[in-house]
This record gives sequence, structure tokens and C-alpha cells, in this order.
Amino acid sequence: MTADLFESVGDTRPSRGVMADGAVLLRGFAKPFEGELLPALRVIVKQAPFRHLITPGGHRMSVAMTNCGSAGWVSDRTGYRYDAIDPESKQPWPAMPPVLRMLAARAADDAGFNGFAPEACLINRYVPGAKLSLHQDRDELDFAAPIVSVSLGLPAIFLFGGAKRADKTARYRLEHGDVVVWGGPSRLFFHGVAPLADGEHPVLGRQRINLTFRKVR
Ligand code: SIN
Ligand code: FE2
Repeated sequence: MTADLFESVGDTRPSRGVMADGAVLLRGFAKPFEGELLPALRVIVKQAPFRHLITPGGHRMSVAMTNCGSAGWVSDRTGYRYDAIDPESKQPWPAMPPVLRMLAARAADDAGFNGFAPEACLINRYVPGAKLSLHQDRDELDFAAPIVSVSLGLPAIFLFGGAKRADKTARYRLEHGDVVVWGGPSRLFFHGVAPLADGEHPVLGRQRINLTFRKVR
């Protein structure tokens, strides 16, 4: 990523960069929400702890996951799906706190997608070495809505490609508070996360937390 990709839009607003048609990186967009966001996440994770899901192919994912909202993304030997019920607790996923809903809607709005109302927030936890292979988000019924992705804690290298798996991927360093929104022409673009480098984040310690908001239905 080069510095000239980013134009600063003023002293009081974070910088933004266009990654592709329909894809925007909003630097520091989540920072003003942090004070409410982190305590809300702690409550969710108490109710629905992180767990390592098994892929349909039988692999244990290195990223630990949980969800909040009326639908949660899950994977097991039978496939990927959205489920209103946490398969571990057999209870509905924790409700999506208003601060998360608002952050997602504002980021989408800023990226040009008005009225974003996600049902699902997938919460990913990366420890050093954890990674997410190149994939498309395609388990949703509604591809008209964008994906909103919030990064917290240790920095990660986000890989963002194109419509085809073989397309060249650009690498973006995502830091605490950065938000990526992709939709429209890039809604189904391949993306992933490189193995997390070791480090210690002043607020979140030795981990990265990613929130991925999706309109499922
Ligand atoms: C995802 O693609 O679900 C997560 C992306 C990220 O962790 O930045
Ligand atoms: Fe994804």
C-alpha cells in the first residue's frame, strides 16, 4: 500500500482509500466507538465464547470465532451456514449491541451504501500465526448489501483480490480501529488474512479481533 493512495479529508476525519470499485478502507473509523465497543464485546464473548470451527473438509480453523446478532456464521462437517442458534450453547446468539449496529451502518454509509442493517456480526479472534485463507463471502442470500469489517488489536495484513481466485491480491496493513467496506462491484471479491505477526497491542494484548457485519437475508 502506498501513501499516495490515501487522501486526507481533513484534520477531524480519518483518511480513506479506495481499494477497488465498491471497496473502501476507512482508517481509524472505529476509534470514536472504542469506549463502548470493547465492553460490549466482552459481554458477548462471556455469553458465547470463542471456539475453533471445523471446516467441511475436516480442518480446525486457526481463527477462533463467535457471533452476535439474529444470525451467526457457523461451519461444521456438513458445510457453512447462518444459524440463529449457537450450536455450542443451543441458545440464540447474543443480540447485536446498538453500538455495533451503529458503527456498521455509519461505516457503510460513509462508503456509499445507505441503510445497511446487518443481521449478523461474525467475531474473529486471531492469535499470532492464525490466518484466513483466500475466500469469498457468499453464504448470504443478499449480495446487494456490503460487507463491513472492523479491525481491533494487533495489526494484520489483509489480502484483497478480485472476482477470480487467481486474481492478483493487494496487501493492506489493517490497524486497530480501521474499517474496510466492500460491496457493489467488489462484493464477491476474494480476500483473506496473512498469518498474524506476533506483537503486543496496548489495549487488546497479543491478539487481533475482527468484526464482520453482514446482511444475511
Ligand atoms: C473475514 O473475511 O471474515 C475476516 C477478514 C478479517 O479478519 O479481516
Ligand atoms: Fe470474509
